[in-house]
Parts: sequence; structure tokens; C-alpha cells
Amino acid sequence: MKTTRIAMLGLGTVGKSVVEILAHQNTVVIDKILVRNPHRHTIDLPLTTNVWEIIEDPDIDIVVEVMGGVDPAYEYVTSALHSGKSVVTANKEVVARYGQELMELARQNRQGFLFEASVGGGIPILDALNWHLRTTVIHAIEGVINGTTNFILHEMEQGMEFSHALKRAQALGFAEQDPSADVGGWDSARKLSILSGLAFNSWIHAEEEQVSGITHVKSSHLHRLRDMGFGLRLVARAEAQASSLGFVVAPTVYPLGHRYLQLSGSQNAVGIFSQAGTIWFEGPGAGGIATATSIVSDIQRIRFSLPDREPLRFDNVPVADIDDAYLIFREEARQPMPEVPDSLQKGPGYLLSSYPLPPDKGLVQYRFRAK
Ligand code: HSE
Repeated sequence: MKTTRIAMLGLGTVGKSVVEILAHQNTVVIDKILVRNPHRHTIDLPLTTNVWEIIEDPDIDIVVEVMGGVDPAYEYVTSALHSGKSVVTANKEVVARYGQELMELARQNRQGFLFEASVGGGIPILDALNWHLRTTVIHAIEGVINGTTNFILHEMEQGMEFSHALKRAQALGFAEQDPSADVGGWDSARKLSILSGLAFNSWIHAEEEQVSGITHVKSSHLHRLRDMGFGLRLVARAEAQASSLGFVVAPTVYPLGHRYLQLSGSQNAVGIFSQAGTIWFEGPGAGGIATATSIVSDIQRIRFSLPDREPLRFDNVPVADIDDAYLIFREEARQPMPEVPDSLQKGPGYLLSSYPLPPDKGLVQYRFRAK
């Protein structure tokens, strides 16, 4: 088989790990790397600041995009596909927004467009949805798919303040350049768009959906919850409903012992609830080598088979809220609960409601799942 020649757009943590992995393979060669400032790198490979040296080079087979952000990454990816190159990307923002269009563009040009690294870092979840589970009916897909918020909530449970925990997540390299995408729930929402796009053949625009992050969570909430036997994580869920698709990203309460509360650091967990049963994926949701492993696997899949696959078909299904229970408690433990209808179930210091109560000073409400 001929050697595959690739070019990379970006040389950050993930890009460097791709270089490291490919250094041990002789079937895939890195021809060029697009960087902003060549003087900042000491790597022994050809660097360029001109993307057209890559797009217009007929010897390059695959472009690996690891620069992040929509602009100019989307334009570069589109141009690469138009000029007959396959693309592998880790860019969840581009895939969440333009995935459907880019898959079609790749198909028209008989090229591959793969993005395993865009969700769940090193977990082969998209591969499972794309191939293994393609003909299985999927009822719901749910998980903790943002390592930064997982890490922050865990640290806050141990007593660290939000801002300090966020700084640590940034220092460890989990958080996005602009961490508001992580803590605001948008990173999870983009990943959920990609997962639900493949699971339900319907590409949802995350920005328009029911998304809340963890910025309003305080250490005192977490301690109160723990005293009541619960923990909190930012969970994303998409589910098939009668004629719509439920889509939510929200801080959600689980009884202590739940698998989401055992995840450490940037670990992710995703459950696929399907006709074939419930299948769980757990593993590294971020990190250079883990994410680069997914990229290199996509490169290999394109080398061997991908351009010949059947096109995926997508429908436009309306999006709906997901009906949930809400755990509601007073921040001040000693204060009594407000007057509530009998239909609400009372626990020790908390209420369980099947709908969110109107905002009230001192009342904290979180989405609640019993399982
Ligand atoms: N900021 C992301 C996270 C990185 O915290 O999960 C991996 O996508």
C-alpha cells in the first residue's frame, strides 16, 4: 500500500501528540504543518504559515485540522475537501455547526471527513455510532462529556472554590481557550449535537437548545446535596420522543454511588440506550495522546476504506424539552421550605418536583435523575 501523505493545521497539545504517534509509523508521513509562528517551534518537520501551500499541494492526501475555533478552520476544511483531500478534525465547534454539510461535501468529492476526536477525546464513541450501531434503534444517548466541569465539580466537592478549580483545569490543559464554553455548557452541547446527529440522523444546532452550565453552582450547594445523599454533574442527554428529539444539557443531581459521580479528572462517560441494550463508554475525554489516538485511527480508516461508504441521510426533526424531575432545596438548611402543593414529594430538607418552581430567593433547583 502506498504511503499516505498528510498535512496538519495547528500544532498545539493534540497536534504535537499526533506527530509523536506518527513518528513510530512509516506508512503515514507528515509533509507540512501550518502554524502561526514558526519561530515558536523546534520541531524537525516543514512548517508553513501559508495554508495554500497545503491545499494546493497535489501530493497531500489527508488534512488533519487541530487548530480549533470556527474561523478560519471551517474555510480551510471546506477548501481542503473541495480540492480533493480527505479531512480528519478534532474541531467540535466546526463539526457541531457544519458536520452535515461537510460530510456531504466530502461524499461529493469522494473523500473522507472523520471527527472521532471531537467528542470524548480518546473514547471510540463516534466509530461505534457510525458503524457498530448504525442499524440499531437508539432510544437515548446521555453522558458526562465535558472534563473541565467534571473536574471543577469534583474539586468543589473537596472544598475548592469555583474560580480556583477552573484555574487548575486550565493549567492541566482540559479547559478550552475560552473556558466559558466549558462552564456555560456549550462544549457539552456541541458534543451532544454531534452524538445525536449520528445517533438520530438529525443535526441539532446546540446554540438554539436547552443548555445551562455550572456557573451558578456554589460549594455550599454541593455540600448540602452531599449531606442529603446526592452529587451533581453536568450531564447532556438527547432522546427520541414520539415525533421530536429531546435535547438538554444541565447540572443534574444523582444519588451518591452513581457512575457519573465516580469519574475523575477529565474522564467522560457516555451511555447509549438502544435496542441492543445499554452500552456504556468510559475513558479519557481530553488529553494530547488520547485525542491524537482518535485522530490517527481516523487517518487509518480513511487510508483503508472510507470514501466508498454509503452516504448518511439526515432528517430535520423538531426539538423538544425533556421532562424531568427537579430537586429543590433551601440553601439555608434551617429555613423551612415554602408552601408547596401536596403533589410534591418531600424529603429531608428537599422537595422533588416534576416541574421547575418559579425562581425564589434562597431556593436552589437542579435537574434530578433517580437512575
Ligand atoms: N474542554 C474540553 C473538556 C476538552 O473539558 O472536555 C475536550 O473536548
